[in-house]
Parts: sequence; C-alpha cells; structure tokens
Amino acid sequence: MNAGTRLMGKMKIRKLIFEDLQQRVDWMNNPHVYCSMHFDVPVLIDKTIEWFNRNQQREDRVDFTFYGDTGEIIAFGGITSINKKIGKGETYIFTNPECQCKGIGTEAMKLLCKYGFENVGLNKLYAYTNEDNVASIRLHQKVGYEIEGRLKQEYKDAGGKLKDRIYLGYLKQNYTK
Ligand SMILES: CC(C)(COP(=O)(O)OP(=O)(O)OC[C@H]1O[C@@H](n2cnc3c(N)ncnc32)[C@H](O)[C@@H]1OP(=O)(O)O)[C@@H](O)C(=O)NCCC(=O)NCCS
Repeated sequence: MNAGTRLMGKMKIRKLIFEDLQQRVDWMNNPHVYCSMHFDVPVLIDKTIEWFNRNQQREDRVDFTFYGDTGEIIAFGGITSINKKIGKGETYIFTNPECQCKGIGTEAMKLLCKYGFENVGLNKLYAYTNEDNVASIRLHQKVGYEIEGRLKQEYKDAGGKLKDRIYLGYLKQNYTK
C-alpha cells in the first residue's frame, strides 16, 4: 500500500487552524502546487498569519484542512467568494505535493462539496482551472462538476504563453450524497 492510499483511509475535514499554517505555506511554496494555482510566491508565514486572522471575521469564505488516520495533514482546500444570496461559492484544493495522483484530491473535494451543499446550503459550487491541469479537470468531473465554459487567454504560463482557463460548475440538483 503506498503512502497516498494509506493516508486516504479515513480522510477527515476540519476548519483550518493556526497550527496548520506553516504546513500550508510550505506546500504553497512547492512548485508542484504553485505552478498550477494563481497566487504570488514566495508565500510568507507572517502574511499568512495576518490573512488567517483577517479571515476569522469573514462570512464569504471558509478554509479547511484535510487529514488522515494519524492526524497528518494531506490536503488543504476551501470555499471562497461565498454568495449566500445567489447560493454559490468557488472551491479550491491542493494536496501534499509528495502525494499527488493518489486519489487524495478527489476525496478531499468530495468532502468539500458535501460541506458546501449540506452545511453552507449552497446551490452551486464552481472552480477555475488551467487548461492544461488535467488532474484538476478530471478530479472536478469525477466529483460531479461539469465544464461550463472556457475563458480564453486568461493568464500567462511560466514561459509567457497566453493560456485559457476552464470554468467548472457543480449544481446541487446533480449532487448525490
Ligand atoms: C490537482 C490536484 C488537487 C489533484 O489531486 P490528486 O490527488 O493529485 O488527484 P487524484 O489522484 O484525485 O486524481 C484525479 C484524476 O486525475 C487523473 N490525473 C492525475 N494526474 C494526471 C495527469 N498528470 N494526467 C492525466 N490525468 C491525471 C487521475 O488519474 C484521476 O483520474 P482517474 O481516477 O480517472 O484515474 C493535485 O494534483 C494538486 O494539489 N495539484 C496542485 C494544485 C492544483 O492544481 N490545484 C487545483 C487548482 S484548480
């Protein structure tokens, strides 16, 4: 049994806590994470602590930590831009960069969607992903998201080439527990 499979055993979700921040920062500074996400690196722990403290008062986002049987952290994710009037929110996910492609992202996203639909009561979850992030597109589709659109020439990759972003949406009416 490989590490990813073992960790996946009984994945659990909890709200992000202060003690998780250094792990989150370390993974965000890993090229296997930041190369397919859209934030500036290096990610600094001081700024992250400020970000975390500011977020405690916010109702438009919720950030999570996913952990395995032994308590070790295996992924981070969240729902941002929560609009309760419309009932929608944007999801994000990233896994331990040493354990990608082992099913962790898919399981974590399932828990995140469950929280979004059942706890927050959202009607729609959505995500943007880079056109060449095959794992992310596949993950979202496996969970229940559908590709709703393609945003052309939305960003530049590391080589300066303009690339598209894929917009995926998941409606509650298609959600099965
Ligand atoms: C994207 C990410 C969350 C996916 O999580 P993961 O645990 O690595 O993915 P999973 O193991 O759950 O695999 C999801 C699917 O993608 C497929 N996949 C994974 N990597 C792939 C690749 N390089 N090419 C083609 N398919 C791939 C898997 O085979 C699986 O599909 P399957 O079950 O039909 O075989 C993770 O790789 C990650 O953190 N990447 C960096 C951050 C990121 O890109 N986040 C998403 C931004 S929107």
